[in-house]
Amino acid sequence: MSISFEDESAVEQKRLLNGRQVTVNQLLPLKYHWAWEHYLNGCANHWMPNEVPMNKDIEIWRGASLSEAERLVIIRNLGFFATAESLVGNNLVLAIFKHVTNAECRQYLLRQAFEEAVHSHAFLYIVESLGLDEREIFTMYHTIPAIARKDGFEMKLTSALLDPSFSTETLEGAQTFLQNLIGYYVIMEGIFFYSGFAMILSFHRRNKMTGIGEQFQYILRDETIHLNFGIDLINGIKAEQPEIWTPVFQRHILTLIQEAVELEIAYAQDCLPQGILGLQPDAFRHYVQHIADRRLERIGLPVHYHSPHPFPWMSETIDLSKEKNFFETRVTEYQSGATLRWD
Ligand SMILES: [Fe+2]
Ligand SMILES: [Fe+2]
Repeated sequence: MSISFEDESAVEQKRLLNGRQVTVNQLLPLKYHWAWEHYLNGCANHWMPNEVPMNKDIEIWRGASLSEAERLVIIRNLGFFATAESLVGNNLVLAIFKHVTNAECRQYLLRQAFEEAVHSHAFLYIVESLGLDEREIFTMYHTIPAIARKDGFEMKLTSALLDPSFSTETLEGAQTFLQNLIGYYVIMEGIFFYSGFAMILSFHRRNKMTGIGEQFQYILRDETIHLNFGIDLINGIKAEQPEIWTPVFQRHILTLIQEAVELEIAYAQDCLPQGILGLQPDAFRHYVQHIADRRLERIGLPVHYHSPHPFPWMSETIDLSKEKNFFETRVTEYQSGATLRWD
């Protein structure tokens, strides 16, 4: 049965997955207003890496003030993020996009895909500005085991969806799809990025490498919206298809998150074998566990770790408790990258 644009009931027939009644080309009437809101928030935070000056960073990098341990932290994080952005972008476009059968969600996914390209651009720009070894940074997903393990964890989730016979129409297929969304939005963008954010922003707050720091702040701001969209999409699919969210599947997701937490702790310890800038490697265990608990809560699972937040200054930078409504107070202005404001 075809449904005309004027048919108000059409909006009710929109579905996040397996929607057939309303085509993916029908944006209006909106059903999932949250998707459109995230799209508008993303657009209001537009920025470009080359708008951020790098001269101070270049001076510090060429000088003698950074220790070898500090340089290692920066290099490892550049190496991890350089590839992670690409993995997220590819997963979006190749694995997620075609299965999401709703126009307003696809509108957001297109915006997010562009932002992932901007983030990749940021790493190219930083590597170029500092005159770093491009090959070294952009191949760390092969050469550094702690990075390879995180990326391998994600790539498995992508390939599960790339099988030509994959379909979201079976219960198992829908669960595999949800597992991919959780693996990317909750784990990659919501857990695997956070040790790096804490490390790089700890330089920024001490006025070191502020060009990189500012770009990480913009990236973190974008990633906060990606995470929020992902959580709305995950919870939306659960609400439409509650049969997917079985106790067995919930336990499986917890196991996946526990595995990711250990990978992230190992990554943090690899970047930071000794304490720098007031960051002790052991504190990252608590930090990663604390972040994971917040993510579990957001997808409706019980908190697991009950770990304290070891970096109170991070709360001042990004108050996790405000994350959900982070941008609601400031979505009207177009931020061109000149000044970064948090509220
Ligand atoms: Fe990104
Ligand atoms: Fe992202």
